[in-house]
Amino acid sequence: MSLAGKKIILGVTGGIAAYKAAELCRLLIRAGAEVRVVMTVAAQQFVTPLTFQALSGKPVLASLWDAASGDGMEHIHLSRDADLLLVAPASADFLARLAQGRADDLLSTLCLARTCGLAVAPAMNREMWAAAPTRRNLEQLRADGVSVLGPAAGEQACGEIGLGRMLEPADILAALPGLLGAGPLAGKRVLVTAGPTFEAIDPVRGLTNRSSGKMGYAVAQAAAEAGAAVCLVSGPSCLHAPAGVRRIDVQSAAEMRDAVLRELPSDVFIAVAAVADYRVDAVATQKIKKNDAVLTLNLVPNPDILTEVAALPGAPFCVGFAAETERLAEHAESKRLRKKLPLLVGNLAQDTLGQDSAELVLFDDRGRHPLPRADKLTQARRLIRHLAALLN
Ligand code: C5P
Repeated sequence: MSLAGKKIILGVTGGIAAYKAAELCRLLIRAGAEVRVVMTVAAQQFVTPLTFQALSGKPVLASLWDAASGDGMEHIHLSRDADLLLVAPASADFLARLAQGRADDLLSTLCLARTCGLAVAPAMNREMWAAAPTRRNLEQLRADGVSVLGPAAGEQACGEIGLGRMLEPADILAALPGLLGAGPLAGKRVLVTAGPTFEAIDPVRGLTNRSSGKMGYAVAQAAAEAGAAVCLVSGPSCLHAPAGVRRIDVQSAAEMRDAVLRELPSDVFIAVAAVADYRVDAVATQKIKKNDAVLTLNLVPNPDILTEVAALPGAPFCVGFAAETERLAEHAESKRLRKKLPLLVGNLAQDTLGQDSAELVLFDDRGRHPLPRADKLTQARRLIRHLAALLN
C-alpha cells in the first residue's frame, strides 16, 4: 500500500498504547507518508519525543509554546498543510476534550484548527470505553465527522479482557487509504448485505440461521478501507459497524430487500447476508399457544434480493456468496451463472459459519481463484482487491 506524498500529523496521547504509535509511525514512513508527530504532555510519560524524532526524521512538537516560533501560528500552518490528522492512541480524556472542542494544548488546538480529516484510534480500559460519558463523546465525535478506528477487543495492559485495546498499527494503516480517498474504490458506492434475517412466526418467535455477520462486516470494512462510500444493510447482529460505514438495521428478508432497493443506485452490490429462503405465510398476531397437536407452519419463498438486483437495468457490479456443504465448485459456479453474477465467493458452510477465519474460492469469468485460509478481514481485503481489479 502506498501513502506516497501524503502528509500526516500523528498525534500521540497518554496511554500505554503510545509505544505502539512508534511502530505506527514507522509503518507510515515506510508507506511513503511524510509524518509530523505531535505529543501531549501525558504521552511523553510513556515514550520520549526522541523516539518519534528518530522514526519520523523530524523534530516532535510537544507544546503549544514550543510551536510558537516564527509568527506563532504553527498550529494553523501545520494543519493547513496536512492531508490527515491521526490521533493514535486517543485516550478517554483526549476524546472528551475533543468532543468539547477544547484547545488547551497543541494537539487539541490542531484538531480544532484543522481543515483536513481527523481520525482517532481509541485506547483505554474496557470500563472506561463502556462508560456513559465515553459513549456520549464518541457519538458526538462521529456526528462531527471524526473517523473512529477501533478499538479492538482482547487482553489489556491492566490484565482485564475486553473492548478498548488500540487497533494494531497494521490495521490502522490499512484504514488510511480509504480516509485519504486514495484507495482502489475511491469515489465508488458499495452496498453490502450482512448477517442473518429473522422471519417472525408470532410476536415472540421466529426463523433465523447461524450467520454471525462477521464476513459481511469485514467486507464492508475492507470496501471502506479501499475508499468506497459504504452502506451496510444488516440483519440482527451484535457486531459494531466498521469505521466510516453507514449501517441500516433490518430484521426480515422483505425489509432487507426494501432497504437495498432504496439504497440503489450503487456501483457495487455485495450480498453476503444469509437471507432466509422462506418465511411463514401469515405471521400470527398473538403468541401461538402450545398444545399436544402437531403444529404446521406454511412457509412461502422469500424474494431473492441478489437475483433481483442483478437483473435490474443498469445493475451494479454484483457479488454473491455461496455457502455449500458439498461439491463447492460445481454448486457455486452454477449459482453464479443462474444469478448472472460477474463474481461469486464460495465457501464450505460447515467451515465458515460463526468462525473467525475462512477458506474461500472466487469464481469469475476467468475461472476459479482460491484464497487460502485466513481471518475474515484478510479474506475480505483480498476479495475487495480482486473486485477492484475486475471493476477497473
Ligand atoms: O441461492 P443462495 O441462497 O445460495 O444464494 C446465496 C447468495 O444470494 C448470497 O449472496 C445471498 O446473500 C444472496 N441471497 C439474496 N436473497 C435471498 C437469498 C440469497 O440476496 N433471498
